[in-house]
Amino acid sequence: MEIRRLKQGEQPPWDLLLLADPSQDMASQYLEEGLCYVAESDASETLGVIVLLPAGGHSIEIKNLAVAEPAQGKGIGKSLIAHGIQLARKTGYKTIEIGTGNSSINQLALYQKAGFRITSIIQDFFLSNYPEPIYENGIHCRDMIRLTMCLSNDNKG
Ligand code: COA
Repeated sequence: MEIRRLKQGEQPPWDLLLLADPSQDMASQYLEEGLCYVAESDASETLGVIVLLPAGGHSIEIKNLAVAEPAQGKGIGKSLIAHGIQLARKTGYKTIEIGTGNSSINQLALYQKAGFRITSIIQDFFLSNYPEPIYENGIHCRDMIRLTMCLSNDNKG
């Protein structure tokens, strides 16, 4: 498997992008303004995607992360996050951020295992920004949990 930047003019993996974010409008805005990397199998099959967007100041945010359902649970999500962190560090960003829903239990586990810490909660984010109610793990997704990782060498995380 290799992780590579989506080429200019190449069709983005919409099925994957929409798996992570049900709003096509938001996903296309992040794609236009951000950096998109895909995880590709040796047989050139797209297995995963990550989109990073400068968040102002010295921070960059992971705006979209998804792995194709049959390929989930094999470490590809972890590799895409590690790639994003490495890229952010190399580019000189001081922090990397990610936001997820209060109902995204597995994602909260994954991000904390990768080194992110919960820094804030945006109450009612999903109620205000998504027209359809979202449920995961039997939980109504209402609030956005914001997580951050410090990339400087003195990270005491
Ligand atoms: N409790 C503890 N750890 C958990 C967990 C739980 N409930 N659920 C997942 N994890 C851990 C796994 O144990 C593993 O860590 P480990 O290797 O240290 O054990 C890690 O999280 C999962 O890693 P990985 O196999 O790399 O994940 P993945 O390739 O399946 O990708 C997603 C993860 C979230 C990207 C993928 O499931 C996905 O695309 N989901 C749908 C889209 C989505 O929700 N995107 C995120 C939007 S915020």
